[in-house]
Amino acid sequence: MNRFFSLTLALLLLLSCTACVGRAAAPGEEPAPADMSAEQPLDPPDETEILEEPAEEEPVEAPEEPYVRVIDPARPMVALTFDDGPDGTWSDAILDVLEEHHALATFFEVGRNVLACPEPVRRMAELGCEVGSHSNAHKDLSKLKKRALLGDLDTADDAFVSAGVEAPTLVRPPYGAVNKTVKSATGRSMVTWTVDTEDWRSRDAQAVIDFVQSAGDLDGEIVLMHSIYESTADATAVLVPWLQEQGYQLVTVTELLAYYYGELPQPDCFYGYTYFSTHGRTDTPVPLPGEAFPGAGVPEEDFPEEPAGQEAPAESDSSGEEDAPVETETPGEDPPEPEWTPTRVQRSTAAPAQAAPTTP
Ligand code: NI
Repeated sequence: MNRFFSLTLALLLLLSCTACVGRAAAPGEEPAPADMSAEQPLDPPDETEILEEPAEEEPVEAPEEPYVRVIDPARPMVALTFDDGPDGTWSDAILDVLEEHHALATFFEVGRNVLACPEPVRRMAELGCEVGSHSNAHKDLSKLKKRALLGDLDTADDAFVSAGVEAPTLVRPPYGAVNKTVKSATGRSMVTWTVDTEDWRSRDAQAVIDFVQSAGDLDGEIVLMHSIYESTADATAVLVPWLQEQGYQLVTVTELLAYYYGELPQPDCFYGYTYFSTHGRTDTPVPLPGEAFPGAGVPEEDFPEEPAGQEAPAESDSSGEEDAPVETETPGEDPPEPEWTPTRVQRSTAAPAQAAPTTP
């Protein structure tokens, strides 16, 4: 019995010692494994989770209130215009910039280009940009007989309609070339520009940027560029935010005519050198069609027909100050206005406006 008892005791001792060894080892190593496990995958996942959470919150905050564009007729404004497109690459690059900055511009597109590349034109209209015609084949319209002239413009209109936008009533004649028929017998409104960046000549983004940034007061100006060059798209990416920082509202040509010059573009009227050099900021901006008042952007059914006062000067090619020079032209050949001159319209000191040199 004693032997059995002592054997059993020895066994129990041995077992407890083994357990002790096991336990003794564990407490000794515990801190290490604990630290290691702390350094191990526990923390990184936490950080990942923390990083992921705000990323999920941001999109929730992003769809804030929709941007409401309101133009203040009393504040400086400038109309950027892009000719010769649409271009499969650079039109969209320019539209990206405009969309990002809630800015609008006017695109004078060539009908045959619209037929070949209609998507950008639809996007322009969707964004609220103005789509004007730049003829169908970019010919010198002043050299066409009237029937050919109207045929060209009508063919262009068909291209716009087939692209899903309205046939433009605003036309920029290629090269700025006009004669009496182009100016006043197409049923359209013809408009040129007041500031020429000569982007087609330089094909240099920095040159275009430098030109615009050193052009002085741009309030009321129509800036000519072309949407078919990478350099122009690059320049636009800099100039749009820069102009806004200077205080300019970026408006369409029709908005500029209504809000700055105080009249809606009229059919068979020419808005060219003579017009822009003798007109300035109006005291009586007019609403766009369907607007309650200038800049409101809110349609109202029955707003008083203020533009009626404008219609009188509009209908007469012979009444306005601008028309005297027009009549000087012989009905036949009219020397085309070169596309690059004048680089900037010089406003007459007798202009009926305060082309206010106020800080933009
Ligand atoms: Ni052109």
